[in-house]
Amino acid sequence: MKTFYIETFGCQMNAHDSEKVVGTLVSEGYTQVPAPEQADLILYNTCSIRDKAEQKVFHRLQQFKKQQGQGKLFGVLGCVAQQEGERIFERAPHVSLVAGSASYSKLPQMLVQLEAGNRHVTGLSLDTDEAFDTPFTRRDNPHRAYITIIEGCDKACAYCVVPFTRGPERSRAGASVLKEARELASMGYKEIQLLGQNVNSYRDPSPAGWDFARLLRAAGQVQGIRRVRFTTSHPRDFVKDIVDAIEENPVLCNHVHLPVQSGSSNVLERMQRLYTRDDYMRRIEWMKAARRNIAITTDIIVGFPGETETDFEQTLSLLEEVQYDSLFSFKYSRRPNTSALALDDHIPEEEKTRRLAILQEKQRAIQIRRNSELVGTVDEAFVEGYNQATGQWIGRTTQNRILNFIHPEHAGPSGDETLIGKYSDVRITRAGPNSLAGEAVTCV
Ligand code: 5AD
Ligand code: SF4
Repeated sequence: MKTFYIETFGCQMNAHDSEKVVGTLVSEGYTQVPAPEQADLILYNTCSIRDKAEQKVFHRLQQFKKQQGQGKLFGVLGCVAQQEGERIFERAPHVSLVAGSASYSKLPQMLVQLEAGNRHVTGLSLDTDEAFDTPFTRRDNPHRAYITIIEGCDKACAYCVVPFTRGPERSRAGASVLKEARELASMGYKEIQLLGQNVNSYRDPSPAGWDFARLLRAAGQVQGIRRVRFTTSHPRDFVKDIVDAIEENPVLCNHVHLPVQSGSSNVLERMQRLYTRDDYMRRIEWMKAARRNIAITTDIIVGFPGETETDFEQTLSLLEEVQYDSLFSFKYSRRPNTSALALDDHIPEEEKTRRLAILQEKQRAIQIRRNSELVGTVDEAFVEGYNQATGQWIGRTTQNRILNFIHPEHAGPSGDETLIGKYSDVRITRAGPNSLAGEAVTCV
């Protein structure tokens, strides 16, 4: 029996790629095991968005180096594989397989080569014209499922490695996306999340030629699906029709993740984001003007080359102006191949750390304020788990907020009593910076 272990780093695209890789391996006769010690083949699906993420995989490879003697095979998949290519064989000679995401459709052939004894198997071509579409996906979550709608990225943001690791944009046919959504609904999934590096630039390759808003509307009509989410969006391609689609159908969740990266138009220009702060704010205003209360979240990079104190203050003022519901913030990290490598004026690490701390403190205060405004209201939670220690169900609202709650008739997750995978209306009684707490009022 052939066994494998896989560990995944990075974003939801990577998490979903791993689900497809697992499905493919299982269909090729492999069995997944929960620990690397038990596996014949150890796979790392890697992320290279920042240097720290990239270093993780080399630590792991070092950790398990000794086990090579026991006949284990090692494979590096994903973004570091694509970026470093054959150099990985030099840096970690016990690795036998190096493959980027654009080559996963050829995994079965690569496995045959591995089994035949080839210890230098690669899948590094980026010129695929197809999205990785496999019937064998092994999904990790029984209630919420990812669906890839577009792969790769055609933008050229100065800091970003993704166009080099995931290749050019390839959209999946709308009919294929909807077929998968209907199959998921018939299997009992209630929530789907449409995935892509930039879902807004989706363009159906079939004659129907749907844009993203059209696809979103259609996904919202699939019988049995109660929530549709999507990520991630580039502000430049984010059109008002997407907000209109959300307005029309409550199945489309009240949440848009719209990474801004900086509040300074000067920095945005150097980042080659191709929008100004005003362009971005126009998109925020579309959402704020909507009748539905759309939660807005973002990503911010501090310490991009040449970011002055004034530029940074503009990012702080943007936070104040938008009042984000949540954000992810990062210190700029130099990445191979990117055009920002050519910029000078690099900001010292301590200064990046200082700016990050100020930004996070400001956002924390905003979240405490925004979340406390919700106390006393009722919201619908999709139940994802149960916290034994606190005796609370763990739910998520349409706005993607965590809502922990107690249910008078369902005290624990035993047997038929479980609420996991169900929806419950919850009265919010307490609010923290990162979550809400409450008490169930009804259960559907
Ligand atoms: N350094 C720091 N953060 C980065 N991101 C992308 N590239 C870099 C980089 N070189 C951040 C962006 C992006 C998020 C996924 O990661 O904010 O939106
Ligand atoms: Fe990491 Fe970006 Fe690759 Fe996702 S696409 S795994 S975030 S480098």
